[in-house]
Amino acid sequence: MTAQLIDGKLIAQQVRDSVAAEVTKRTAAGKPKPVLATVLVGDRVDSATYVSAKGKACQELGMGSVNHHLPADINQADLEKVISELNADVEVSGILVQLPLPSHLNEERVLQLISIEKDVDGFSPINIGRLAQKGREPLFVPCTPFGCIYLLEQAGVKIEGANAVVLGRSNIVGMPAALLLIGKNATVTVCHSRTKDLPAVIRQADILIAAIGRTEMVRGDWIKPGAAVIDVGINSKPDASKKSGYRLVGDVNFDEAREVAGFITPVPGGVGPMTIAMLMKNTLRAAQIQQGE
Ligand code: GUN
Repeated sequence: MTAQLIDGKLIAQQVRDSVAAEVTKRTAAGKPKPVLATVLVGDRVDSATYVSAKGKACQELGMGSVNHHLPADINQADLEKVISELNADVEVSGILVQLPLPSHLNEERVLQLISIEKDVDGFSPINIGRLAQKGREPLFVPCTPFGCIYLLEQAGVKIEGANAVVLGRSNIVGMPAALLLIGKNATVTVCHSRTKDLPAVIRQADILIAAIGRTEMVRGDWIKPGAAVIDVGINSKPDASKKSGYRLVGDVNFDEAREVAGFITPVPGGVGPMTIAMLMKNTLRAAQIQQGE
């Protein structure tokens, strides 16, 4: 059996096209365009790359963006002042503080300060708390897990009643992914570095979301035949045949897993492009919320 590939690049483009069409409609009707404010603290190259990709996506979709690049040694009070100003700025629809922050800063206090109507990352305790509770709806769902579920749904994978295993329990991906799957009536197991007999647990999974950040950790014989495999990992692996000397691979051994799974996302071109697409969707939603729609 060879798994059906879930083309994240194509599905992300469809999401972006539909957001762009809605933005065009809004601006033609005289409404202000959605604006994303990003906050980047320090000089991490990976964070700077992500933030610039987010700003570029805004431009491509007809939205506005402003980036606040703050020094690595900024103090908590000055960073909080920037967030408060963005909360109060009526031209700003969404606020995104790129993580991780330098270790001297209190991430929890920063995320808590972002107004929930502008919390397009969905990381504020109120949005996460609502995601965790039955009968409550968050205003925004964190972008990467939102993208994972969207890919499953677009591929026609049935979530209700499925045994879902989430590998990794990070605040950004694993934990919100598990909460989303519970909300969609899957039976969910969350695995982590101290899980006993991980292969045996993963073999029960009709749906596997791998977000542990370990190069090709999940082997083909850990996969249940026919399972849907969503690989969130982006790891670099030495590869002498590449000019850069490396290539990107996921948390799942793709060549092995595709022979067993029913559906699988590639790396790159699977979950990766979905994160920004869902951020754009959330930013449009934020603009609508602020217009009382
Ligand atoms: N760092 C890694 N992923 C993310 C994300 O989705 N949002 C933010 N703000 N920071 C991140």
